[in-house]
Amino acid sequence: MFDQLLIAADNALRTLAGAGHASKPNPARAIPDGSDALGEAERRHASGLMRVNHVGEICAQALYQAQALSTRDPVLRKHFESAAREETDHLLWTQDRLRELGASPSVLNPLWYAGAFGIGLLAGCVSDAVSLGFVVETERQVERHLDSHLSTLPPTDLRSQAIVRQMKDDEARHALSAEQAGAAPLPAPVRWTMRAAAKVMTTTAYYV
Ligand SMILES: [Fe+2]
Ligand SMILES: [Fe+2]
Repeated sequence: MFDQLLIAADNALRTLAGAGHASKPNPARAIPDGSDALGEAERRHASGLMRVNHVGEICAQALYQAQALSTRDPVLRKHFESAAREETDHLLWTQDRLRELGASPSVLNPLWYAGAFGIGLLAGCVSDAVSLGFVVETERQVERHLDSHLSTLPPTDLRSQAIVRQMKDDEARHALSAEQAGAAPLPAPVRWTMRAAAKVMTTTAYYV
């Protein structure tokens, strides 16, 4: 248990420091950076959306790490750990794009991480099926959210669009694999609360 706590602390620090290597190439790599062609308002908007997406990935790391820590099933632990590795790609791609846009990640990232970690632990302590149900609902909400970003990102910001499109496909796959691993459907009030919490996070992270 002590080892696992140390690993969790190490993961938290790595995530917040933006350290690590992507296992898959950035989907925007072949697209020329058109950031210079963006107007000031467009750049601000794209930065806000990509900051929100980066915070989403900070939270994904925290959730998956907490869920890996709280399950007693070694197969499920591997499932959460490998999902977290895939989310690392998303984290680094959004981080790269923020840098290209001349924008910073959210200053509240430690707070987002801590909150998501607590929620992940809570879900994991109820049962594995609920923990997986939580993944399904989270990934579906993120997928819808990314879809909405695709229609509002500046039309010339092709690099951000490529990243968001790939993330949306990946999140849909994560939801499906959690469902197949035995997720329980969450009660409606839990889903509404999750949506309300996501709204607070996305509204705040757009600005800071
Ligand atoms: Fe993701
Ligand atoms: Fe995901």
